[in-house]
Formats: sequence, C-alpha cells, structure tokens
Amino acid sequence: MRSCERLLDDVVPDLIRDRWPNKCDFRQRSRAKPGMTKDTMHSTPPPRTYRVKSFGCQMNVYDGERMAELLAQQGIAPAPEGEEADLVVLNTCHIREKAAEKVYSDIGRLRREDGTAPLIAVAGCVAQAEGEEIMTRAPSVSMVVGPQAYHRLPAMIADAVEGRRSVDTDMPTETKFDVLPARRKVGPSAFLTVQEGCDKFCTYCVVPYTRGAEISRPFNDLVEEAKRLVDAGAREITLLGQNVNAWRDAGGRGLERLIEALAAIPALARIRYTTSHPNDMTDGLIAAHRDIEKLMPFLHLPVQAGNDRVLKAMNRSHTTASYLAILDKVRAARPDIALSGDFIVGFPGETDAEFEDTLKLVEQVGYAQCFSFKYSARPGTPAATMDGQVPLDVMDERLQRLQTTLNVSQIAFNRASIGKRCVVLVERRGKHEGQWLGKSPWLQSVHFTGEVAIGDLVEVELVEAGPNSLSGQLV
Ligand code: 5AD
Ligand code: SF4
Repeated sequence: MRSCERLLDDVVPDLIRDRWPNKCDFRQRSRAKPGMTKDTMHSTPPPRTYRVKSFGCQMNVYDGERMAELLAQQGIAPAPEGEEADLVVLNTCHIREKAAEKVYSDIGRLRREDGTAPLIAVAGCVAQAEGEEIMTRAPSVSMVVGPQAYHRLPAMIADAVEGRRSVDTDMPTETKFDVLPARRKVGPSAFLTVQEGCDKFCTYCVVPYTRGAEISRPFNDLVEEAKRLVDAGAREITLLGQNVNAWRDAGGRGLERLIEALAAIPALARIRYTTSHPNDMTDGLIAAHRDIEKLMPFLHLPVQAGNDRVLKAMNRSHTTASYLAILDKVRAARPDIALSGDFIVGFPGETDAEFEDTLKLVEQVGYAQCFSFKYSARPGTPAATMDGQVPLDVMDERLQRLQTTLNVSQIAFNRASIGKRCVVLVERRGKHEGQWLGKSPWLQSVHFTGEVAIGDLVEVELVEAGPNSLSGQLV
C-alpha cells in the first residue's frame, strides 16, 4: 500500500479532508524520535564531508543552501569536487514526472562497488510525499526529511551515526527559520524565502500537500535576513514563495510593503519576486512596479492555459480575461515590464481547439520567457483520476508547438532590446577568455567582455540577440 493511503487514518488536516475526501494526503505527521525509528543499520563514523544535490524549483535551491549552512555549522565540510562525500543529501522535487523513481535510481547510483554507500538523506517534496515508503524500498537511506523539518537534520545525523534510521515529515509549529544558522557568504544574486506553501489547490498540483498551507514569514525576520544577505555579498535579492504575492504579515501588510522596506537597504540594488498567482496580484503590488526603482521590471505570472473551461477544470479561479486585465494594469504601471509564465499542455480533457486557445494567448501577451510542461498525473490529486487523460504523443506534439510559439515570442522580446542601454549585474565568468555573464533588469542573460568583477553593476549596450541570451558592450 502507498504510504499516503496508510496515512489517511493519521492526522489529516481538515482543510484537505473537506475539499477532497478520500484523496490521499501527503501531510504525514511522523517525527524523528528514537522510539519511532524502526530499523537499525550499522553504526558509522560521523560524516566529515557532505554534498547536497538539489532538484526542481528555486525554493529547493534555497533550502539546499540552508541545509549546507546547517551542515557546515556542525563541522561537516563540503566534499571537494570529484570526491565522494560521507553524507549525501538528495533534495528532491515531486512536481512532475516520475520524481520518486528518479530518486530511487539516484540512491542506487550512490552504492559503492563493495555494496556499501555513504550516509544518505532524502529531503524535499519526494521525502514528504513518500515518507516511510522510501525507508522500505531503499535500505541504504538513513534519513528521510520533509521540507519543513530539515532544521532537525543534525539530530537525525546523530541517530544515523548510531545506526538508527529516521523519518521526519512533520510540519512543526516551530519554524525552521528560527533555528537555522545565519547566512554567511552568498553570491551577488541571492534567494530569500518569504512565504511557503499553497492554499490554491489547482487540481493537477502536489504543492499544497508537500509544502503545506500558505504561511508568511514575519516582516522583521525577513528584513534582518535580507540585511545579512547584503552584508554577505548580495546585490540582488529574489523573494521566493510558492505563492509569493500572497505574502502578508500579521498586520495585513502586503508584499509591496516588504519590498519597500528592503529597497531602503542602501547596498541592495535589485529586488525580484517569484512565483505569483494572478488572484493575489493586488493593485498595491502593481503600483510598486511603478514606484520602487529597485524592483526589477519582470513579472512571472503563470496562467497555465488559455482556455476558460480548462482553467476552471484546473481550479485556477481566474479566467483568461481576468488574467489579461491584470497584465494590462501591470503594463500601465511599468510599460517596459518583461512578462513570464508557466503553461501545462495536455491537461485531462484538453481538446485540440482548447490547446489552440493557449497558442493564441501566448501570441497576444508577447512573453519575454516562459516555462512549459506536459501534464503529469500526480498521485492523489483530483486531475489524476479525471476522464480524458491525453495520450503522450498528443502532449508531445502540443508541447513542441507551444515551445515554438514561445520561442518566437522570446526572440522578438530579445531583439526589441537591441540598441538599449541597461545596467547588468555581473554574476560569473563566461566560457570564453575575458567574457563575463550577468543579468539585465528584464532577467535576460547578457555576455560581454571588459574589466569588471563579480557583483559589479555595469552599464552595457545590448548589441546582438539570440533566443536565450544577448551580447553587450560595456559603455
Ligand atoms: N504536471 C505538469 N506541470 C505541472 N506543474 C505543476 N504541477 C504540474 C503537473 N502535475 C507546473 C505548473 C506550475 C509549475 C511550477 O509546474 O505550470 O506553475
Ligand atoms: Fe500548485 Fe501554484 Fe496551483 Fe499552488 S497555485 S496549487 S503551487 S500550481
């Protein structure tokens, strides 16, 4: 039996029971307690080195960085490039495709020739969704830890060293953010998670189950963490959340107030946020794009599909018209804004004509860049059992057509930038001698040569455009 079915009898949040009775629930409430660790392994020396492998979204990248900092605080060092680590954390993603199967093959690949393996922790959304099942299927895994519980890794590692295996997929009341060590060293562009979880329950999506209900981190904590990121080298901060624009503090202040407070940090040059839901795109936040210079002219606002029947079946609670009306307002506030989105093709029941509506919407909006995916049935979500599952070859063809249309849009956006002068944040060296890579305000990758350093903000003239990047000349 799958772990999620077993857990229906466990503590299931009323919210989910009310909405989808009989659906599986991933919000398991097992915790790492010595009494609960079922199996024992051989004891092992404490790990001296670690490697964290993060898959999926930017939130996972952020969580991976925080886990790395936590391990470093425990005196565990990053494994040198090319060398095996004593402890491997697989920070997994469950949003699409056969995520769980991929994890099992990754675990298999960690096995050494003599049959032994490093200490393995499975973290992230697959850990949350699969829980104990991972322990059963993968005997070499010592720790399974969900996205809300990874601050407890040190205790789990201590257990593992003693030979005890543990699962912690709790969504505790204490927040990991209060326990994690302070940020020390970051690159010029840093992530800051301000909001987690989702209450929107789109019918195809696992996030409300794996990440839990929407929570917003407190205003002052975020301003403090942002200041520390800036002290540690960040010039740009991207605020992260599964529904980042749903961020509210206890007093009801919206994301624009937080952005305003961060904009007052003198050495912070740029602020971005992702990912947003159309229903939380308030007039206040739209006005921030007009009023706050440090807020970059870029908006990732997924629409998912261009047909209202499909949007309704997805439980998106917006229509194409209401989505377009928001974009009109955003463009009125910030005419040069670059727009981005996510699309799913082949949602159950999507007809050819409904898919064509998505292509029309893309042509109408003129996106700067987008992500597009084939629908992937996620066990336990309502869409997984809907009639009219679309065959893979149809999805393949639709995805190809959509991506061709999106590419045309992206190239047009990049070409329209030629001749513009803009500030580029230098992020790293390019492949070629003397070449540097950075980002324009519109999140385009720009390469150029010249005497600069990582973290500099330099003025560049954009001279050539490809589909995925532009070349520039230092002014
Ligand atoms: N199948 C395909 N794409 C999905 N996404 C979320 N769930 C699924 C799924 N089951 C996409 C959505 C979302 C992005 C992060 O991933 O487009 O915006
Ligand atoms: Fe998933 Fe985003 Fe819908 Fe939430 S709003 S359920 S995270 S697709």
